[in-house]
Amino acid sequence: MADTKKLYIKTYGCQMNVYDSERMAEAMGGAGYETTDSPDDADMILLNTCHIREKAAEKVYSELGRFKGLKAEKPDLKIGVAGCVAQAEGEEIMRRQPLVDLVVGPQAYHRLPEMEAKTQEGVKALDTDFPEEDKFEKLKGRPKAKRGPTAFLTVQEGCDKFCAFCVVPYTRGAEVSRPVDRILSEARDLVDRGVREVTLLGQNVNAYHGASTGGDSWSLAQLIWQLDKVDGLERIRFTTSHPNDMMDDLIEAHGTCSKLMPYLHLPVQSGSNKILKRMNRSHDRDSYLRLVERIRAARPDILLSGDFIVGFPEETEADFHDTMDLIEEVKYGQAFSFKYSSRPGTPAAERPLVDDGEATERLYRLQALITKQQREIQDSMVGREVSVLFEKPGRLEGQMVGKSEYLHAVHVSGSDAQIGDLKRVRIVESGTNSLAGVPILD
Ligand code: SAH
Ligand code: SF4
Ligand code: F3S
Repeated sequence: MADTKKLYIKTYGCQMNVYDSERMAEAMGGAGYETTDSPDDADMILLNTCHIREKAAEKVYSELGRFKGLKAEKPDLKIGVAGCVAQAEGEEIMRRQPLVDLVVGPQAYHRLPEMEAKTQEGVKALDTDFPEEDKFEKLKGRPKAKRGPTAFLTVQEGCDKFCAFCVVPYTRGAEVSRPVDRILSEARDLVDRGVREVTLLGQNVNAYHGASTGGDSWSLAQLIWQLDKVDGLERIRFTTSHPNDMMDDLIEAHGTCSKLMPYLHLPVQSGSNKILKRMNRSHDRDSYLRLVERIRAARPDILLSGDFIVGFPEETEADFHDTMDLIEEVKYGQAFSFKYSSRPGTPAAERPLVDDGEATERLYRLQALITKQQREIQDSMVGREVSVLFEKPGRLEGQMVGKSEYLHAVHVSGSDAQIGDLKRVRIVESGTNSLAGVPILD
């Protein structure tokens, strides 16, 4: 088609932004745009941004600066900022970087096509509303293109927890759960397009309480059991969970629902009760440890993953020691750790900072411990039988790569597996970042 325009989207931040970028691309598909992998041949560039730490937010401005030359060469090029920086900084973005034509928040992006039309008339467009309407409903009727075997599916959005360090309740708004039937129809649609594994997304996914067709409100476990019945859908995951919302039925489902994978991301942030209190986490160290015990009783082989913040205001060496001690006790198969970043407008931003060099040093120590645990758990997979969902060819001839139920990357040679196949594999080797396996002939 002669007048198809090209859209380049760059995504920062969490999995929900990845999902949102897909939906924005689909929305713009309806307005005559197809996606491109290169900003150089784009008619529109969209940065889907993250505001979680200062570095993430600042990256956006340096990235925008790089498009100056491109815009000078191609005056018709439209440049947009979406996501959490758009929500948090709105007009300030246009002030700081005049080449930006459009700013759209995470709750308003179904209006992108109209906004783009405005920019074509030379008018700048800004929308950071939290509209009443359901953006996902407005995004219906999207193209039915074939997809890879795994997909994200947003089921809940926003956060009411207000951890003292975090911008998410401000950028994503209050907790909202999507209705059950809409999620089910989206899941069926994904399966029709080749998806075999869905990861249900929410900032507090386990606080899900969506309306069922019967009118009552369903828990995440109830939703998972309904998805369990979807033919062709083989694996279900969910992220991210807050320790306070791990309900009994969800813990139980980990032991009884065979499609629910034995992997759980359960951030704790700190192991010190003093710090947890100041973080406004509303759980303490012991309640977290007891919860982990209950989850492991339901599913002994579950792989746990976590998030940690070091150098939170007034964190002492003793507080940090409590965190290291908790990590020793839990044993994580995966973890994400961050040096505290002060975010304007959050309560913690008022508190005195820990010395930066000290915080960096703690981060290294924590990461060394996590890496050791990760390795031990990965190495313990050698000799075991796992199931692998194949996602792409490997670098070597005849090699395929996929993920085990524990989310480890597994390289398999000598298999006739195709992308999207789910096969039993025996793990024979543990490498730096992945496992090697051989097919089990059935
Ligand atoms: N509940 C959401 C949190 C998203 S933020 C979820 O868990 O998906 C992801 C992680 O970023 C948090 O768990 C926390 O460890 C980290 N984080 C959030 N705000 C931060 C800040 N101000 N400084 C450093 N790390 C932060
Ligand atoms: Fe942020 Fe806490 Fe909400 Fe997670 S639970 S999004 S860390 S406020
Ligand atoms: Fe970042 Fe927003 Fe996700 S701040 S982590 S993109 S919810």
